[in-house]
Amino acid sequence: MWEYTDKVTDHFKNPRNVGAVENPDGDGLAGSLACGDALRLTFRLNEEKKIAEAKFQTFGCASAIASSSALTEMLIGKTVEEAEEITNADIIAYLGELPKQKVHCSVMGREALEAAIYNYRTGKKLDKHIDGEVICHCFGATDKEIEKITREQKLATAEDVTHACKAGGGCGQCIPEIEEIINRVIGEEQAEEEPKPKLTQLQKIKLIEETIDRQVRPILRRDNGDLELHDVDGDKVIVKFIGACVSCPVSAVTLKDVVETQLREAVSQNIIVEAV
Ligand code: FES
Repeated sequence: MWEYTDKVTDHFKNPRNVGAVENPDGDGLAGSLACGDALRLTFRLNEEKKIAEAKFQTFGCASAIASSSALTEMLIGKTVEEAEEITNADIIAYLGELPKQKVHCSVMGREALEAAIYNYRTGKKLDKHIDGEVICHCFGATDKEIEKITREQKLATAEDVTHACKAGGGCGQCIPEIEEIINRVIGEEQAEEEPKPKLTQLQKIKLIEETIDRQVRPILRRDNGDLELHDVDGDKVIVKFIGACVSCPVSAVTLKDVVETQLREAVSQNIIVEAV
């Protein structure tokens, strides 16, 4: 029997904002019915660009319903940029606590929010399996998702990952690969803690070029896009998008979330990327 806080029980028994917003500005789905948990989140903005209405439809357990209800309450009155800052840890904090084995319910809320914001910004549905390779076929979890959750929640074992997002909780065949991801993340974090030797400007430019070739270009080329390095001025890296990236409506997101993130990890936390 799970131990629930009074707030979880209240949101489960009296869920707020159940249903779907008519003509929503953002519409996102997370989870899958095959896994036993699915959540659709819809929201509508008012003239001040704040979330006026947020509703959910959840198929899942008490924690999934309580997490979804809490999330909608947290969203109302926020701008999309403020909503984007909400993490699954914030959902848990709002509810007081969730049993460790139910943390994945709050993660599903966060994923539905990401999908709804993506839909708001691009008009497209987020296909969460596009990004990365499916590692856990029982629960459709990709290597990128497992890596992200391992990093964000500082997970240390495959069991922790299963509690957080269900991956590994079915047939168990993916557990060795989940452990490999955990070990890689822990190794990278330890390496980050060691001070990196200072690079000369020439070494920095070479490392930027190598990182673009190895880690950025393959991601952009998947969608027929690409970029070229235009200039490097101190920590400012200027790139020029080419191919499909030129007209892509989310190129600004790609610039920060893909290009800048990869260069910060590989070269320096101070890197700022701009496009010409
Ligand atoms: S493949 Fe991951 S639990 Fe079955």
